[in-house]
Amino acid sequence: MSRVWNFSAGPAVLPAEVLEQVKDELLDWHGAGCGVMEMSHRGKEFTSIIEAAEADLRALMGIPANYRVLFLQGGATQQFAQLPMNLLSGAGTGMSADYLITGSWSKKAFKEAQRVTAGIATVRKSGSTEASGFTRSLDPAELDLDPDAAYVHLCTNETIHGVEIDCSRLPAVSAPLVADMSSHILSRPVDVSKYAMIYAGAQKNVGPSGVTLVIIREDLLGRAASTIPSVLDYAVMAENGSMLNTPPTFSIYVAGLIFQRLKRLGGLAEMEKINRQKAELLYACIDSSQGFYLNPVRTADRSRMNVPFTLANSQLDPLFLAETRAAGLVSLKGHKSVGGMRASIYNAMPLDGVRALVEFMDDFRKRNA
Ligand SMILES: Cc1ncc(COP(=O)(O)O)c(C=O)c1O
Repeated sequence: MSRVWNFSAGPAVLPAEVLEQVKDELLDWHGAGCGVMEMSHRGKEFTSIIEAAEADLRALMGIPANYRVLFLQGGATQQFAQLPMNLLSGAGTGMSADYLITGSWSKKAFKEAQRVTAGIATVRKSGSTEASGFTRSLDPAELDLDPDAAYVHLCTNETIHGVEIDCSRLPAVSAPLVADMSSHILSRPVDVSKYAMIYAGAQKNVGPSGVTLVIIREDLLGRAASTIPSVLDYAVMAENGSMLNTPPTFSIYVAGLIFQRLKRLGGLAEMEKINRQKAELLYACIDSSQGFYLNPVRTADRSRMNVPFTLANSQLDPLFLAETRAAGLVSLKGHKSVGGMRASIYNAMPLDGVRALVEFMDDFRKRNA
């Protein structure tokens, strides 16, 4: 069996050692006589799996005791709606939320919030970098924040445009801060206490698709309108340990194995070191290519997880993609809305994979410049 170097933006590469363990446990988990996919979510075996997953995530991220961890479904896209349904729709008239738009995903979150709160609440665009092509984060002077907002929403890593905001450079906001961290959660340490809520779809750094993490401060629970579906009410899900209904058991199990692996590797500070090395290597290759490859993002805002780049001569794009594919470097085509290429280099992409990509890119440039 030969595995490719997989640069997919998500669902993305998973660590081979975790997949091996899943394979070993597939038919018989720890002597249970059946696999995780086949066991009741209410039984003692699965209870131990979800409890360990939560405890490991709490330890990895340093999640304070006054935050609840929810394992939900519907992806981050559902959170675009569920968040305002919980924190705006029940709040009565006059309430508003602020949205910072720094790429396609935060723009989608903004539009969905407008949709689900139409006629009930106000959703404000408090800053946008769209006019400059989503190539940077917002500077504090550009923000128009409402101190009385129910919350301020931002996306700390824009997967398509490759713009990342690190927790130490967050804008000063007085309202509760809510972050979509789908594509960089667990890639570096985060001070959870700076956020009122963090959410993330799993299929990049957490595990397989199907589970969505929500980390929410307890005082934000119980604000939803009583008319929203109970399965979408954070408070109801928290009261029921994410098991009002059947949770995505297999995805939670695999995520739990990923958390254990990250702990074995030394935690998020260690992941940050490796991720920084990987990103520096790739950006250095782009920046030293004398314009053959280009990344448009302001240096301080460049994502360590998703590296979009274009070839100055876009006629070479098909050749670049065909040759990378033949060399076992796959899923490098950029998102259709921006074109060019994108290399997603999540936690599970080893340094050797990035080295292989950079060697190929250098060689391709020499042959085609
Ligand atoms: C930053 C970000 N937010 C939200 C989403 C949507 O996630 P999902 O497909 O899990 O709904 C994505 C998907 O790639 C994403 O990258």
